[in-house]
Amino acid sequence: MAANWKMYKTPAETKTFFENFLPLVKDAKHCEIAVCAPFVDLPAAIDAAAGSNVAIGGQNLYWAKEGAFTGEISGPMLKTLGCEWVIVGHSERRQYFGETDETVLKRTKAAIEAGLKVIVCVGELLAEREAGETEAVLEKQYAGGIAGLSAEEKAQIVIAYEPVWAIGTGKTATPEMAADAHRVIRKMAGADMRILYGGSVKPDNVTALMAQEEIDGALVGGASLDPVSFSKIVNF
Ligand code: PGA
Repeated sequence: MAANWKMYKTPAETKTFFENFLPLVKDAKHCEIAVCAPFVDLPAAIDAAAGSNVAIGGQNLYWAKEGAFTGEISGPMLKTLGCEWVIVGHSERRQYFGETDETVLKRTKAAIEAGLKVIVCVGELLAEREAGETEAVLEKQYAGGIAGLSAEEKAQIVIAYEPVWAIGTGKTATPEMAADAHRVIRKMAGADMRILYGGSVKPDNVTALMAQEEIDGALVGGASLDPVSFSKIVNF
């Protein structure tokens, strides 16, 4: 169960979140929990979550280890800080920041080399779904962004299926729609891959989504910002 805070919260708000959140999920043994926070909040999150059952992650990284890349953050930087996870290829990065399947693969490889586990995001746009292209889009994103990983590297990732039209819109894919897409991904990624669903996951729809055998967890945006709401999702 992973939180994607996107561009929300200050370090002080991060500290407050964990003070409230950790006691609510301390008995959760059925899942791994990760919170992917903005770069500037990571030290506060890592400090607050130390010794708990909650791992911390970034939301992006650059593929070089270091260098003249103004504004970028590397895998070794995240790892040294104490991150365990990083999100790669989120649809907002694909839409607004020029992320492609090729750069998804580069970032994912660099993250794994740095010792991070990766949440690799895939998903179709509304127009692609309406044109009946969902399966083809997922196959293309997998072929370009994920298939080039070795078996050892694949063991370090989870895939998040996030239909772009369901992100932040309140429109969740029905559990059946999500499961259909997960099956397309599963066929390519194999039985051992953990596949998360993301897109308007809330405390009141998480149980039906998680009831689908194909759905192994959730990547949660808006509903992860509130500690009570995210704890209800974790403890579905
Ligand atoms: P949402 O975002 O839960 O706010 O729809 C999910 C995501 O973008 O990871």
